[in-house]
Amino acid sequence: MQREPKVADIVEAAAKQGILIPAFNVFHLPMICTIVEALAKHNTFGLVEVSRIDIVKFQAKGVAEVAEEYRKCAQPMTALHLDHTPVIDEDGVRCDWQSMISKAIEVGYDSVMIDASRLPLDENIAVTRQVVEMAHPHGIAVEAELGAVLGHEEGPLPPYDELFESKRGFTDPDEARRFVKETGVDWLSVSVGSVHGAISAATKDQPKVAAKLDIEHLRKLRDATGVPLVLHGGSGVQPSYVAEGIKNGIAKINIGTDIRQPYERTIAAGGSVSEAQSASAEVISRVIREVYHIEGSADRLQTTDSRP
Ligand code: G3H
Ligand code: ZN
Repeated sequence: MQREPKVADIVEAAAKQGILIPAFNVFHLPMICTIVEALAKHNTFGLVEVSRIDIVKFQAKGVAEVAEEYRKCAQPMTALHLDHTPVIDEDGVRCDWQSMISKAIEVGYDSVMIDASRLPLDENIAVTRQVVEMAHPHGIAVEAELGAVLGHEEGPLPPYDELFESKRGFTDPDEARRFVKETGVDWLSVSVGSVHGAISAATKDQPKVAAKLDIEHLRKLRDATGVPLVLHGGSGVQPSYVAEGIKNGIAKINIGTDIRQPYERTIAAGGSVSEAQSASAEVISRVIREVYHIEGSADRLQTTDSRP
């Protein structure tokens, strides 16, 4: 696949064709080329992504360091994405999001995510709009979040089924309609039942719950927004719900915990970095082939090259 179309075109095409674009988080720098090589091996289009959490709480080092490592192995079927760039982080701390976004633009990321979801709607709109104005002139796509995909915060959540039934944090369709219209955002991260893998020292190694998705709610969001939707907390979402999610607007899925835990477990057990890389690669291959059914997607994606 020739990588001439921008990532916004590719994700839009994926949404239309019902093909899922996976985005794998980098928690440790050696994971970068592992992700790229696994995507290339299966001829699958996907993103390598890093978030502030991966940098500050794990070992991804920095926005520029990730880009530098990525350039060593980048392939036509991969792109580089700056994931969650929070305005207020999971600990309630105000963050310097402008510097992170500017750095990503400077060092050539293909897309960025601003996460102002902990702000009131009007402020989320204003910040997201600002990021769109920063990124689009450079041909960089922008993702934002509305609603709350819980799980990164410290402290216990209610039992999963209770949380799901309560619809706590779910994205409101009317707000989503207004948000997309007023921000010009390319992709929207929505909350419809998935949760983020825990990251606190006490909980980060625990297995994730097999989350469900409220497909009816997702459909309302798809109809209200008309842009590709993003499913965060992708690790462990039940495959049947992922399949229904793709049919109802989900075009990109973020996967972190599922590839981090085997990597860290291998290192903790005295394994080498290369053994840890293989442990992550195995998971990537499995989800590509057996869960998302996207092997060969790089050849199947048909784009019309028109957007920034
Ligand atoms: O932005 C990152 C993701 O939403 C990853 O979530 O670690 O639960 O797969 P996960
Ligand atoms: Zn996320």
